[in-house]
Amino acid sequence: MDPKASSLASLALLLALCFTSSVTAFNITKILSNFPDFSTFNDLLTKSELVGPINKRLTITVLAVDNSAISSVTGRPTEELKNILMNHVVLDYYDDLKLKGIKGKSTLLTTLFQTTGVAQQQNGFLNCTKTESGKVLFGSGVKGSPLNAEMVKPVFQQPFNISVIEVSMPIVAPGIGAPVHAPPPPPSTPPPAPAPETDSPIEAPSPSDEDDTVSPVAAPEPSADDISPSPDSDSDAPASGPSTDSLSPAADDAEDHSGSSKISSTFGIAAAIICLAASVATVGF
Ligand SMILES: *[C@@H]1O[C@H](CO)[C@@H](O)[C@H](O)[C@H]1NC(C)=O
Ligand SMILES: *[C@@H]1O[C@H](CO)[C@@H](O)[C@H](O)[C@H]1NC(C)=O
Ligand SMILES: *[C@@H]1O[C@H](CO)[C@@H](O)[C@H](O)[C@H]1NC(C)=O
Repeated sequence: MDPKASSLASLALLLALCFTSSVTAFNITKILSNFPDFSTFNDLLTKSELVGPINKRLTITVLAVDNSAISSVTGRPTEELKNILMNHVVLDYYDDLKLKGIKGKSTLLTTLFQTTGVAQQQNGFLNCTKTESGKVLFGSGVKGSPLNAEMVKPVFQQPFNISVIEVSMPIVAPGIGAPVHAPPPPPSTPPPAPAPETDSPIEAPSPSDEDDTVSPVAAPEPSADDISPSPDSDSDAPASGPSTDSLSPAADDAEDHSGSSKISSTFGIAAAIICLAASVATVGF
């Protein structure tokens, strides 16, 4: 091999190394591209310029919505859509095991939207609640918000850096945009009637300290001729029993992570300088 060519080759190799060394732990675009069901969600992340901010993180969970469910928000204005998507990026690592093991019944998760500085009234947080039946539900962290996005399945995980979890519908927090309503339950198959519970004395949806009149589900009006004592039929309501919620706002998470990303970018710069020096040396040969 002619010396000039070989030095060119080694320069190319070095450049390639430089690139890979400054690459982050994962590439959300690449991860999602393996799952055609999330192609729209993936495109929207790119269009909203969220790929960089996501890839920069070391520990993150993306709540992905499939192509049909995401269609309810694809027509939203660009900025609103971006905010909605940022609310689907949780600044911590949660795989399905960790979600199902949430201490107490519910917790608040910090999202990327919280880091923008425009979040207000907890709308940068998500409420993640585990039901009695083991379902994992998500909704905005704003008090009284419906928890109507349900975990469907884990999609991808690279412990403990990135996890992608499918949720049933987009979460649109108050203050970000108009809410998306849960799709009506399928008309045919009624859920296996859980035999008339022996008189359940708990009717109050949330026995919280403050007068919490905003119930997530509109209570059906008791009409005069409806004397049937049957439990209400809209079964997709988050069955909130006597909740023993542990309120653990992870507000300081955002700080932690911006700290660690600062470190990683410093590292990136250092690596770039070393690479540059190495390249110069190679060219000198
Ligand atoms: C995964 O995250 C941890 C911090 O949780 C970090 O120390 C580690 O470098 C990350 N792994 C990669 C490959 O970046
Ligand atoms: C991430 O993956 C996509 C698709 O494979 C690719 O086009 C893009 O260049 C990658 N980005 C980085 C920073 O590697
Ligand atoms: C999550 O939402 C439920 C239902 O609205 C509520 O009872 C619970 O207190 C909330 N949890 C947190 C941590 O805010």
